[in-house]
Amino acid sequence: MTNTQSPVIKFDNVSKYYAAGTARVTALAGVHLELTEGDFATIMGPSGGGKTTLLNCIGGLDTPDTGDIFLNDRLISKMSDRELTELRRKEIGFVFQFFNLMPTLTIFENVELPLLLSHSTKSQGNRIDTLLDYVGLIDRAHSFPAELSGGEMQRVAIARALVHQPAIILADEPTGNLDSENGLKILELMKQVCVEFQTTLVVVTHNPQIATYGNRHFEIRDGKLTTQ
Ligand SMILES: Nc1ncnc2c1ncn2[C@@H]1O[C@H](COP(=O)(O)OP(=O)(O)OP(=O)(O)O)[C@@H](O)[C@H]1O
Ligand SMILES: [Mg+2]
Repeated sequence: MTNTQSPVIKFDNVSKYYAAGTARVTALAGVHLELTEGDFATIMGPSGGGKTTLLNCIGGLDTPDTGDIFLNDRLISKMSDRELTELRRKEIGFVFQFFNLMPTLTIFENVELPLLLSHSTKSQGNRIDTLLDYVGLIDRAHSFPAELSGGEMQRVAIARALVHQPAIILADEPTGNLDSENGLKILELMKQVCVEFQTTLVVVTHNPQIATYGNRHFEIRDGKLTTQ
């Protein structure tokens, strides 16, 4: 079956190198990748294999040395920092291993923060309530992150990632700090998000059980991406 949908994420022969003293580390080695709307991709691989570099290049946090990256047909690998910041704020949601919530802000305020940072003028209180309800934490809206469990904090981070209605959600070891039961609950929630919001989801993981989620499975080692 040929896929006629145009890709949301497209990597064309992308390479990325880092200087390590006098040596050169190849973090990405000629990566080709195409993901379409609603794809749920998992990326496995050993430490140092290039997983975070790949996610950061998708999310415009890092730029490749050679090759082209397109998000929804726009060439992002040649965008300026300012354009990339704008793109991230509008179109990409990030979920991290250590949750990255602001400790002095309430749960509600943490979810609201990306809107404030992008100078959204409209009050979006209802949207934040809807998202907190969606992740099962509406009754904790006025709590602080330190009062929540790890699994709950990660659910807040997912609500925060969704607040801009992004086309893409990128998650770097989102269950790395959770026990296996809570980790699987977070994956179930992400799977549901992917279907209901039609987002394209890329999850990096060390956990082989988690890597069975999703419809596209990849491995990256020594910067080389292969389909599983
Ligand atoms: N800022 C940097 N400066 C120098 N080398 C870097 C930098 N970032 C990554 N690297 C190197 O690039 C390679 C890929 O790193 P990357 O962080 O993408 O791996 P990873 O697969 O995410 O590993 P982990 O599972 O440990 O998080 C590694 O050899 C790493 O040392
Ligand atoms: Mg990493």
